[in-house]
Amino acid sequence: MPRLLIPLELAPGEKRVAATPDSVKKILALGCEVSIEKGAGLQAGFVDQEYEAAGANVVALSDLKEWRKAEILLSVQTPLKSSLLNLSSDALVVGLLSPYSNSELSEVIPSRKLSAIALELLPRISRAQAADALSSQANIAGYKSVLLGAAALDRYFPMLMTAAGTVQPAKVIVLGAGVAGLQAVATARRLGAVVYVSDIRSAVKEQVESLGARFIEPPSIEEKPLESGGYAKQASESFLIAQRQKLSDHLSESDVAICTAQVPGRNAPLLIDESMLDRMRPGAVVVDLAVSQGGNCAGAKYGETVERKGVKLIGASDLPSTVPNHASSLYARNLVSLLGFLIKDRQINLNLEDELIKGCLVAKSGQILFEDLINSGGFN
Ligand code: NAI
Repeated sequence: MPRLLIPLELAPGEKRVAATPDSVKKILALGCEVSIEKGAGLQAGFVDQEYEAAGANVVALSDLKEWRKAEILLSVQTPLKSSLLNLSSDALVVGLLSPYSNSELSEVIPSRKLSAIALELLPRISRAQAADALSSQANIAGYKSVLLGAAALDRYFPMLMTAAGTVQPAKVIVLGAGVAGLQAVATARRLGAVVYVSDIRSAVKEQVESLGARFIEPPSIEEKPLESGGYAKQASESFLIAQRQKLSDHLSESDVAICTAQVPGRNAPLLIDESMLDRMRPGAVVVDLAVSQGGNCAGAKYGETVERKGVKLIGASDLPSTVPNHASSLYARNLVSLLGFLIKDRQINLNLEDELIKGCLVAKSGQILFEDLINSGGFN
């Protein structure tokens, strides 16, 4: 019977937890035993008694035996190196492990002969949809980014007709129409804003329009990047120059810009440069969700709000963790779904012939399978 362990998340500011009382019940039904660290769910609104009632053992992880017993460690972010060193050889670590920039993990894997699954690399195939943690968390980030933008803005979002006159709706521009971007569009529309969207994948035009937003066509120059597996490829510099020219007028009239444009494993494209910021009105707000990958907006700083000539640049960090109850519930469901693929007849089966597992298994029994984890010098 596989033994699972869920530790308290120790990354600064991280409030999510990898299992909820509800997901514990489902994991037990797969034929596993579940231990969870005391207080692990508290910041996400789940108390120890609920986990116990669901059938989990609530344990103190000061006891090394608890680490040693674990065959699968479920986490949100990569656990500390000191924690991973407590695990038994052959244990499997599952989480959002930042596989493109994680030298600590690549060091500890061979020394403890660990296996690891990085949920960021889960293939985007229909079978894997219920396990897609990037999507479940990006959805939350997109929603919260608009709330941050609205709260920081010096104007209303909706159009209002009052006795004192009519207030025009805010103009919001969303850069990048992936999962986070589309949720940002939907949220901004619900708040009554007029929304414009830019993406280099023309395929999203229909989705954008169905949400009541207007699509800004990408520049039609030769270097238009190709699409790969639903993702954008990195755009060339000449493409980005043409794109920035196209966006500049829109930005000068926008109240809020929500930046979500990313290319997996690469630096985020620079979509708002200094000259474009100069044209934005004082009081406007930029929320940059891509800031941890270099940012879409010049001058945005991770986890900080920078005021530049009256324009607020919000370097969004860890937005899913600011909605920890729902973010944990969705993430925990993603993990239950993934475990359904990993556990067969009450045994852990890391079947490399299954494209779903092959895609996200970054290490097996100490051998690193995902090269970028070793060369993790960050993005390029
Ligand atoms: P992401 O977080 O990697 O990127 C966000 C968006 O930025 C993408 O739409 C991308 O095209 C856009 N972008 C990149 N460079 C840009 C530029 N220079 N200017 C403007 N926009 C730029 O993407 P995310 O949210 O992870 O999903 C990407 C797509 O993957 C989805 O829209 C969908 O088509 C597909 N998907 C498929 C799933 C499945 O089949 N299971 C699940 C989730 C997503």
